[in-house]
Amino acid sequence: MAELKVDGQSFEVADGTRLVLALEDAGIDVMHRCGGFAGCTTCRVEFTEGEPSAMTVAERDVLEKRDLLGSSRLSCQIACEGTMAVTPLVRVASSGADGPGTRPEDHITPEPEWI
Ligand code: FES
Repeated sequence: MAELKVDGQSFEVADGTRLVLALEDAGIDVMHRCGGFAGCTTCRVEFTEGEPSAMTVAERDVLEKRDLLGSSRLSCQIACEGTMAVTPLVRVASSGADGPGTRPEDHITPEPEWI
């Protein structure tokens, strides 16, 4: 099991759970406007513990393009492992959006190529 710490809560999720879904299914306000395809960056989080070193090419490319590389990670491109402490950076409540976006699939999309 992996341990997630967010918004003052701590909970366990199965190893390999897609981070964006672990957050959403725990009732955390997190956005995912592109449905988890590394296209929108609204699922981005800041890590304070347990940031994985592995990154998908899709994540690197979009973070680089939007000048976000090094300051945040995409929760749709990360599988939970170990202990992770994160803060979602874009919330439905403060965005004015009508919802978080299409629910991402259970596995990382697009097909991950790891760097
Ligand atoms: S980049 Fe759009 S949901 Fe992750």
